[in-house]
Amino acid sequence: SVGKVTNVFWQECSIGKFERQKLLNQKGCVVWITGLSGSGKSTLACTLSKDLHARGKLSYILDGDNLRHGLNKDLGFKVEDRVENIRRVGEVARLFADAGLICIASLISPYRRDRDACRALLPDFSFIEVYLNMPLELCEARDPKGLYKLAREGKIKGFTGIDDPYEPPLNCEIEIRPQDGL
Ligand code: PPS
Repeated sequence: SVGKVTNVFWQECSIGKFERQKLLNQKGCVVWITGLSGSGKSTLACTLSKDLHARGKLSYILDGDNLRHGLNKDLGFKVEDRVENIRRVGEVARLFADAGLICIASLISPYRRDRDACRALLPDFSFIEVYLNMPLELCEARDPKGLYKLAREGKIKGFTGIDDPYEPPLNCEIEIRPQDGL
């Protein structure tokens, strides 16, 4: 945390965000996709990235599942681990957006407070929160990884939506419901 930073100095360079934006001909931002497991976050992230690519826009996906193989492999699914997971990804997303990329973060990110903290890292209008509002029953019926089944059998403890909370956004930029045809 900031309180622990001592004898450390911020370095500036004459090539900054605006120079990079000009070079790439785009503005960096963060598209933050939140929703239950199996709600379609990764699919949406990939579709969006492909679409942007086709339009000549540089994007990069930060996928919760994937990051848990590297950057976040020391984290589990307890509250404090999820909080740290989102904090780290929020910081990485901020760097990517500053680098000029359209950063697509795709994580359950179950706590409103943590998502808001990520939003607060970005300049105004450059954090777009997308809520995949899929009912639990639909996600559970899809169960692409068989994890809901294991959670119902008690073989996974603290599974989001089953015995762990999910706090939907109150003021997100975009909300997608099943009837929206995903
Ligand atoms: S979080 O809550 O934002 O920190 O989670 P995230 O980093 O997005 O990782 C979610 C994926 O981890 C798998 N998984 C679990 N999800 C929820 N709860 C528990 N206990 C759990 N254990 C493993 C699951 O495959 C999630 O993938 P998605 O893509 O969301 O289905």
